[in-house]
Amino acid sequence: MTAQSLAAIAQAMVAPGKGILAADESSGTIKKRFDAIRLESTEENRRAYRDLLFTTPGAAEFISGVILYDETIRQSTRDGVPFAKYLTQQGIIPGIKVDAGAKALAGFPGEKITEGLDGLRERLKEYAGLGARFAKWRAVITIGSGIPSAWCLQANAHALARYAALCQEAGIVPIVEPEVLMDGDHTQARCAQVTCEALERTFIELRHHHVDLSGIVLKPNMIVSGTDCKQQASVAEVAEATVRCLKSMVPATVPGIAFLSGGQSPELATEHLSAINALGGLPWQVTFSYGRALQATVLKAWGGKADSVKAGQAELYKRARLNSLAHGGKYKPAMEAA
Ligand code: 13P
Repeated sequence: MTAQSLAAIAQAMVAPGKGILAADESSGTIKKRFDAIRLESTEENRRAYRDLLFTTPGAAEFISGVILYDETIRQSTRDGVPFAKYLTQQGIIPGIKVDAGAKALAGFPGEKITEGLDGLRERLKEYAGLGARFAKWRAVITIGSGIPSAWCLQANAHALARYAALCQEAGIVPIVEPEVLMDGDHTQARCAQVTCEALERTFIELRHHHVDLSGIVLKPNMIVSGTDCKQQASVAEVAEATVRCLKSMVPATVPGIAFLSGGQSPELATEHLSAINALGGLPWQVTFSYGRALQATVLKAWGGKADSVKAGQAELYKRARLNSLAHGGKYKPAMEAA
C-alpha cells in the first residue's frame, strides 16, 4: 500500500457531504443498547440490527464508511452477503474497531489506558483480508478532581501512535480517537484545556512514530461543558472553542476530522457540527463519526420488531441526511420537523 492510497482512503472517508457511521459497539455495549428496547442480545438479533443499518436504502449518499466490530465483520446480510462485501458494493468503506477496550491504568486511580497492541499486526492483516480499509482505536480521558494526569495523557497518546503506525504498515487508515469524556461538572474551559493537551501529545507521538498524517482521520470530542456543569456553553461557544483548539493542535496535512457524539443528543450533535462548519476557513474536512447520535432514534423506532425495520431505516436516513447537511454547515434545527 502506497502513502498515496492511504491518503485516498482517508479523503474518501471524509468526502464533502459524507461522514462515518460508528456501528462498532462491543458485545457489552450493544447489550446495553438492546436492554433499553427490551431486546435480548443474541447473535442473530445483533446481526439483524446491523443488517437494518447497513441495508438502509440511499445511506451511501451520506455515509462514507462504517466502523464494524469483530463479530460484525464476520457476519452477513439476510441474503448471505458478508457485511464488508455488501458495504463495499454500495460504495461504503468498511472499517473495524481494533482496540480491546479502556482498562484501569495501574497506579492512577480513576484513569484509563486502552489495551490491544499485542498481536495487533496479525489481527490487522486478518481484518484487511476480511475487507477492512480503516480501523479505530479509542483512548478515554476522564476529567475529574486532579485528573487527567500528564502520564495518562502520555500513555494514551503513545498507544494511539503505536496503533496508527501498525495500521499504516498494514495499508489500513487509522482513525485516531482521543476522547475526552463529557461526564462530570467541569466547565467548557476545562474541557478545552484537557482536549488541547491530549491532541498536542497525540500529534507529537504520531510524529515520533513516523505516522503519515495525510493517511489518518482524527476523531476528537467537541469542546463542550461537562454534562453536570450548571453553565452550559451555547452552540456558538462550542463551535468557536472547538475550532480554536483544533486549529492550534491539528496540522493541515490531516485530511479530515470526524467527531464522536459522546452522549450529546442527536439534534445537538448535528447542530454543533453545522455551526463548526459554518465558521468556515477550516483546513480539513470536518464531519461526523457518530454512534449514539446516529443510532438512538433508529433503535427506538425499530424496537427489535421485524415489521419496524423500515421505520428504523427511515430514522437512520434522516439523521445521516441532516448530518450530511451539517458537514456543509447548512443544517437548521427547523429541518428536524420536515
Ligand atoms: P458516540 O458517537 O456514541 O460517542 O460513538 C462514537 C464512537 O465510535 C466512540 O468510539
